Amino acid sequence: MSSAARQNGSARPTVFPDSFLWGSATASYQIEGAATEDGRTPSIWDTYARTPGRVRNGDTGDIATDHYHRWREDVALMAELGLGAYRFSLAWPRIQPTGRGPAVQKGLDFYRRLVDELLDKGIKPVATLYHWDLPQELEDAGGWPERATAERFAEYAAIAADALGDRVKTWTTLNEPWCSAFLGYGSGVHAPGRTDPVAALRAAHHLNLAHGMAVEAIRAHTRPDTQCSVTLNVHHVRPLTGSDADADAVRRIDALANRVFTGPMLQGTYPEDLLKDTASLTDWSFVRDGDLERIHQPLDFLGVNYYTPTVVSEADGSGTHSSDGHGKSDHTPWPAADQVAFHQPPGDTTAMGWAVDPTGLYDLLRRLSSDFPQLPLIITENGAAFDDYADPSGRVNDPDRIAYLHGHLAAVHRAIADGSDVRGYFLWSLLDNFEWAHGYGKRFGTVYVDYPTGTRIPKASARWYAEVARTGILPATA
Ligand code: FCB
Repeated sequence: MSSAARQNGSARPTVFPDSFLWGSATASYQIEGAATEDGRTPSIWDTYARTPGRVRNGDTGDIATDHYHRWREDVALMAELGLGAYRFSLAWPRIQPTGRGPAVQKGLDFYRRLVDELLDKGIKPVATLYHWDLPQELEDAGGWPERATAERFAEYAAIAADALGDRVKTWTTLNEPWCSAFLGYGSGVHAPGRTDPVAALRAAHHLNLAHGMAVEAIRAHTRPDTQCSVTLNVHHVRPLTGSDADADAVRRIDALANRVFTGPMLQGTYPEDLLKDTASLTDWSFVRDGDLERIHQPLDFLGVNYYTPTVVSEADGSGTHSSDGHGKSDHTPWPAADQVAFHQPPGDTTAMGWAVDPTGLYDLLRRLSSDFPQLPLIITENGAAFDDYADPSGRVNDPDRIAYLHGHLAAVHRAIADGSDVRGYFLWSLLDNFEWAHGYGKRFGTVYVDYPTGTRIPKASARWYAEVARTGILPATA
């Protein structure tokens, strides 16, 4: 029996609910390419990637997987792989190049064609408004630390909902605002690469506000059957030991990673302990009267991205000041948390160095269901990078990815069986793509991309996942 099957606690196949949504996910900057086509202007990621030393190997998203030209082939592939849903993001600088003013028709047309093709193949489109490609001009005007960026985002959300809302029924506002705020403005390992803890906290608030205003805009421009959500990389934070000091480290990181978003978005308030922990940096006076009401919008589900757990302790000279896994920096993404150390969780790792731990996903889903019992959950990202290659016969065998997916799907099923309302699962990612600061060096796809030619080769995991999606049955072993 594989370890994944053992964790599942049974050697019997596992049956998912009939209505369970099976999908794959991507993001605009990571796959589209065509960086200067049809009126698109640079986003913060174009600028960041073109800055020497920021991205491994000097890689950029200029061409990426060339999805902007190969979208029809990619949708055909999704249909062949039996996907019921596809989560993708809209590139703000393709739709509204300077982040202001009227939309560019060609940008909207690209997404309209994509969505029509998906619907034609019976694949449900799930659109994310923001997966990190802020128009550079808005960063030049101050970026997410400024309130005006949230106001611009609401205008862009209205444009997108107006143009696509008749076809796209499921929307998420932001992808992982933690990364935008704390990696973008705190540790600087993501665009725009700033390293100012106060700017990071301001960014977190204005991303929260942008979310609330965007939900209002989507609801105002679409029919009542439209579903709205946000995707958070909710961290599953574990203590290194049973000590009180380690429990306090968990509390502090949970506030900075999770409750800074779930507090205002789902409960209409910032956690008291977060405000106290960060009081030496800011008095949070950028939170204005009425903001919390606007951020606290009813949501149809919460999007959850999970890859690996986070292990923390009090700082005792061991561990590191961060474990975000997205890149190395001398600056921490955790404001006012110098007293916390991060530790590598035990177990096998992926090519990202991330520990493989499906129990983290189970525990996380159970916790979310207990904290927010009325809120359905959808896994909007889960997956793994491995050092895949095409063998001489042109095949890509990726048994480690299949084992990873098996273990995590078993964990999802176990959470459902124990009472969690999990409605779907989106694998990250459909295609190998531009993995941010790691460039093209990390392959997360279930479809291999041969970068010089752009040729797509479904890996063994793509066929395996297609069968699970087609039958709704997870085999007993990977
Ligand atoms: C998540 C991002 C996604 C991808 C995966 C590996 O944090 O949302 O774009 O990079 O990590």
